[in-house]
Amino acid sequence: MLCIGSSVNLSPPSIQNLNDQGSEMPRESEVSAGAKGQTSTLRPLPSEFPNRALSMPIDEQIYKDIMSRHPSGVTVVTTGEPVSRATGLTVNAFCTVSLHPPRLLVVVDKQSQTLQPLLENKAFTVSLLVAGAEDLAMHFASKDPDKFAELPPDSYTELASGPALVADSTAYFECRSVQEIEAGDHWILLGAVERGKILSDDEPLLYSERRFRRMVPV
Ligand SMILES: Cc1cc2nc3c(=O)[nH]c(=O)nc-3n(C[C@H](O)[C@H](O)[C@H](O)COP(=O)(O)O)c2cc1C
Repeated sequence: MLCIGSSVNLSPPSIQNLNDQGSEMPRESEVSAGAKGQTSTLRPLPSEFPNRALSMPIDEQIYKDIMSRHPSGVTVVTTGEPVSRATGLTVNAFCTVSLHPPRLLVVVDKQSQTLQPLLENKAFTVSLLVAGAEDLAMHFASKDPDKFAELPPDSYTELASGPALVADSTAYFECRSVQEIEAGDHWILLGAVERGKILSDDEPLLYSERRFRRMVPV
């Protein structure tokens, strides 16, 4: 199908201008508009797929079911002074972004009561939980207004970016927040990694298909 005068141009020029035999196709401005050989700005319409995809978002349950098949580690993201007292939440939406310079991201729900302190403090610590720390993961997945009040004082270390859960983690990162991106019902926090520490070689805690799991060697 053709339309006239549209500026849509989906194909890179190198593909667009070759036919099946690899010969050069007429350029857009050279497409014949009729038997008399006049030229016009006829351009192919884009495939309908992108428009359909935009107007029919994936079913919510299918989206969640597919994501649940993607295993992850489990972290606790914390922040603290000077904006708030120590606070944090369980996060599995955590991944590396860049090595040079070192950047990572965490994704935080707009409903999280930890979000505001995270945004204001512009610093956070990511503790990577060890297998066996399921109760701690559930504690930081709660809405307890003071999650550090019940923790043994020697189970965490206060850092400038927020407490590290040293007793229950394999490692942690200390980050300065360099970019915050609003993304649907969440915020993406991009962290510049300032320091990191490996605490043990123990196995990590995993989360998959809505359950905590442990690694099994293959
Ligand atoms: C395994 C697991 C992973 C989670 N991952 C995230 C996440 O990536 N981002 C997020 O915002 N909430 C995540 N949550 C939910 C929060 O931990 C939960 O909503 C918590 O109550 C937020 O606490 P807050 O409101 O005190 O900040 C996760 C929960 C669990 C159990």
